Amino acid sequence: MEIRVFRQEDFDEVVTLWERCDLLRPWNDPEMDIERKMQYGADLFLVAEVAGEVVGSVMGGYDGHRGSAYYLGVHPDFRGRGIANALLNRLEKKLIARGCPKINLTVREDNDVVIGMYERLGYDHQDTITLGKRLIEDQEY
Ligand SMILES: CC(C)(COP(=O)(O)OP(=O)(O)OC[C@H]1O[C@@H](n2cnc3c(N)ncnc32)[C@H](O)[C@@H]1OP(=O)(O)O)[C@@H](O)C(=O)NCCC(=O)NCCS
Repeated sequence: MEIRVFRQEDFDEVVTLWERCDLLRPWNDPEMDIERKMQYGADLFLVAEVAGEVVGSVMGGYDGHRGSAYYLGVHPDFRGRGIANALLNRLEKKLIARGCPKINLTVREDNDVVIGMYERLGYDHQDTITLGKRLIEDQEY
């Protein structure tokens, strides 16, 4: 298994992976999300490759104050082998290398698997709520 930076030719495979991981939301156009990421911190968008196939992804970011991780997903046939852990570890290392002091994540409250995983990786629950405001409407996917 290799963790590497996303390449343009991974585009279709990654969108298919996100579909399989149920990571697509009607208000996010995944193709536009990838295009935007290519303009800002593209080297923090990581994929896991096994035998030439993209089986995992995490779209990391750093805004100069906090790091972030979106689109963490591992193909159902490849789960439970530490691929998500490896993606997050690599992302954390890259963030530390550029001086990012903290990473913040948003996880759905009912996603027990992911919450348990993050807790084991040292992530704490924060006494905050997430507020959001859509600035650009994407086409419904
Ligand atoms: C969450 C997800 C990324 C985990 O991927 P993975 O490669 O299977 O995870 P890992 O093998 O690295 O395991 C990470 C930890 O989670 C645990 N875990 C993974 N899958 C699990 C499951 N189905 N049930 C219980 N625990 C599980 C592992 O035991 C491991 O714990 P450990 O580090 O203490 O051993 C994957 O299940 C997935 O893609 N889910 C759908 C998308 C999703 O919910 N993404 C998160 C959005 S915030």
